[in-house]
Amino acid sequence: MSLVIKGGTLVDATGTRRGDVRIEGDTIAAVGDGLTADRTIDAGGCVVSPGFVDLHTHLRQPGREQAETIETGGRGAALGGFTAVVAMPNTDPCMDSAAVIREVIEWARTAPCDVFPTAAITVGRRGEALSPMAELAQLGVRIFTDDGDGVQDDRLMKRALEYSVGLTPFTGGQSVTLAQHCEVSVLSEGGSMHEGEWSSRLGIPGQPSEAEELMVMRDIALARATGARVHLQHLSTEGSVEMVRRAKAAGLAVTAEATTHHFTLTDACCADYDPVFKVHPPLRGDRDVDAVKAGLADGTIDAIATDHAPHTRDSKELPFDQAPPGMLGLETALALALTELDIPLETLIGLLTWRPARIAGIDDVHGGPLVAGHQANLCVFDPELEWQVAGAAMASRSENSPYEGRTVRGRARHTVLHGEVVVHDGEAQR
Ligand code: DOR
Repeated sequence: MSLVIKGGTLVDATGTRRGDVRIEGDTIAAVGDGLTADRTIDAGGCVVSPGFVDLHTHLRQPGREQAETIETGGRGAALGGFTAVVAMPNTDPCMDSAAVIREVIEWARTAPCDVFPTAAITVGRRGEALSPMAELAQLGVRIFTDDGDGVQDDRLMKRALEYSVGLTPFTGGQSVTLAQHCEVSVLSEGGSMHEGEWSSRLGIPGQPSEAEELMVMRDIALARATGARVHLQHLSTEGSVEMVRRAKAAGLAVTAEATTHHFTLTDACCADYDPVFKVHPPLRGDRDVDAVKAGLADGTIDAIATDHAPHTRDSKELPFDQAPPGMLGLETALALALTELDIPLETLIGLLTWRPARIAGIDDVHGGPLVAGHQANLCVFDPELEWQVAGAAMASRSENSPYEGRTVRGRARHTVLHGEVVVHDGEAQR
């Protein structure tokens, strides 16, 4: 069975042009004009890009399947245009052992999106002892993180970075990256939102920007000392963005991501004490949002991530200080980027595709380019389509979208995973 995606505007790391894409099996067979095949998908008025890659997804399996599963999260990802997601390790049990990683890989086989598990840096994400990193790397793990928490102990973090540099014999020569949730817990403890004017007004204890920035500063210093690859997750403050800008100028192996909520929402959203706006790191101020946008525009920040964090309705109905932090992101990421970021389309697609794919070490299969011989992992999206966000209509088991009711622009129409149309005309096919 062959497939042709007809008449779209092709955008990938090599540039922008018009053309048809012919797919045979799981591979792009030809790119050009006037191509035919057994099945045709009309991409008129649409952009055809590599499938999106999310470096930061919480799929909740094992342990919190009432909020999400690999299958439902994978479906949401496909509907959002993603063909690959990197799954966070704060499951229950935590993804810190070969047994759990093997299970996640097994469950993910039937998901409508490729799932690449991270593993915890420390046993139980408790920050006390290193996980069996070599064994986990051997199973295919390329990103280690204690996400949900940062590694607090400076010496342990340094040792993890030193160790990560020597893991190439276990990965067939591929580099391993340590990703950090930058949060110094003694400074953030007890805080439920950004510490600033709004937290004072609302009487909600805050988390100061410095809780993030001190760990960003430390990890940049440790990247310099060890030569290891450090990826800084969900950057949210002006100071963090500036430090990464300088680290890159100094040639360090530091990369960074920003979430869609950190460039679209501010701490003022918490004014009604609605826990749907509670997230870690917290929504910050206007200057921070502007700095994150500037970092995305000038290349300082490498990737747009979702930090898709499903939570059940019951838990999100608790009072603000007791509700868990986190918000949905997979199905709204593209639209928010298109609606809110004033950057060229090629730059935007790079932030969603080839740049995160490189960080995850999966750029041989995801992130393009759209050329013959490459894996057919693609997204066909309509950049102009306006739609209204509704959590209940999403594939996720949870509904905690902070964009409920908002009109946004741009939506994935078709998603192709290894040659299979897993989303057709906005409908999941499995
Ligand atoms: O808001 C967040 N939610 N931040 C985290 O670090 C963890 C995540 C979750 O797992 O819900």
